[in-house]
Amino acid sequence: MNIKEIFTSKFGPEGDIREYFSPGRVNLIGEHTDYNGGHVFPCALTIGTAGAARKRDDRKIRFYSENLSGQGVIEASLDDLTNHKEYDWANYPLGVVWAFFEKGHPIDSGFDMAVNGNIPNGSGLSSSASLEVLTGTILTDLFGIKDLTPVDLALYGQYSENNFNGCNCGIMDQFAVAMGKKDCAIFLDTADLSYEYADIKLPDAKIVITNSKVKHSLVDSAYNDRRNESAAALKDLQTVLDIKTLGDIDEETFDKNASVIKDEIARKRGKHAVYENQRTIKAVKALKENDIETFGKLMNASHVSLRDDYEVSCPEVDVLVEEAWKIPGVIGSRITGGGFGGCTVSIVKNESVDDFKEKILSTYKDKCGIDAEIYVVDIGDGARRI
Ligand code: GLA
Repeated sequence: MNIKEIFTSKFGPEGDIREYFSPGRVNLIGEHTDYNGGHVFPCALTIGTAGAARKRDDRKIRFYSENLSGQGVIEASLDDLTNHKEYDWANYPLGVVWAFFEKGHPIDSGFDMAVNGNIPNGSGLSSSASLEVLTGTILTDLFGIKDLTPVDLALYGQYSENNFNGCNCGIMDQFAVAMGKKDCAIFLDTADLSYEYADIKLPDAKIVITNSKVKHSLVDSAYNDRRNESAAALKDLQTVLDIKTLGDIDEETFDKNASVIKDEIARKRGKHAVYENQRTIKAVKALKENDIETFGKLMNASHVSLRDDYEVSCPEVDVLVEEAWKIPGVIGSRITGGGFGGCTVSIVKNESVDDFKEKILSTYKDKCGIDAEIYVVDIGDGARRI
């Protein structure tokens, strides 16, 4: 069933039913830098969340997810925009409605909304940001809110995730989902949200995502701890350096001053944030010079840093990455997204993709007893009405 049929089967066929699509994202490099004033380099995918919606005459808001069909229709109300545990996944779209009110864009009636996604949940490919920006796109279109840009929708999505759903995430995911552009990655400076699109022309290689199937949960995980630990590193550095964020300094400046960071763990977190930001800047430069080999090496170094200094990998993901590094034709491979499970992203030469799939699937099964999933992905556009 397509999304309109799904909608109709739950909410009836009458009226002005509109359809939308919002992508997932993969980050090529620049991990855990977005709340440290650094750069990121994500792209939107062609997989994502389809949505259909229709205004109502009353104040009810009804949500249905085909992916979680067992939960049936979840009913909320404009008169109670608060997080309820039993709303489960619907707290994400409801949080965006709440954010619209908080930010001075109230809506004057309820609506029905159905979604159907093909981003594996908890895989680190931003199913939640996809849903948030989808909801923002629906609200602006259904209610004719003209003065909001896609960047605003990204910010509202992040605001709702931070303040309604309890994950202190940065802006990368929502930005990539809202601003994605076919065949481009987004080089975003999270310090001031300036960005540029970089063509990802890889005639000889593919972007390959491998899902470890180890589910990450950012809210329950150590994500918020990492934020606090890097903030502690910044605070200590600010006693000797005039800086606003860890994105303000290079490796040398960090190394010279690192001894002022009192806590050893915070020092490691700070080191990752500074080095990863610099790696991201170098990686984009290399890509512009068509030096994909250097890009790949920086991806590999990113993984080592995320594994050893930021400690957001896990044994299963390390197996995936370390096995990928052994395969001829793999240009680079690293964990992607929030971490603690989820996916790896690899750049693999065209002629090696089959070999990659075969070797990774069988070695991972042998070593970890899990059937990984591998997706050769395309870079798509951001959230939109269709
Ligand atoms: C999650 C967060 C992002 C970012 C990444 C790590 O995906 O939502 O804001 O911090 O983790 O790079």
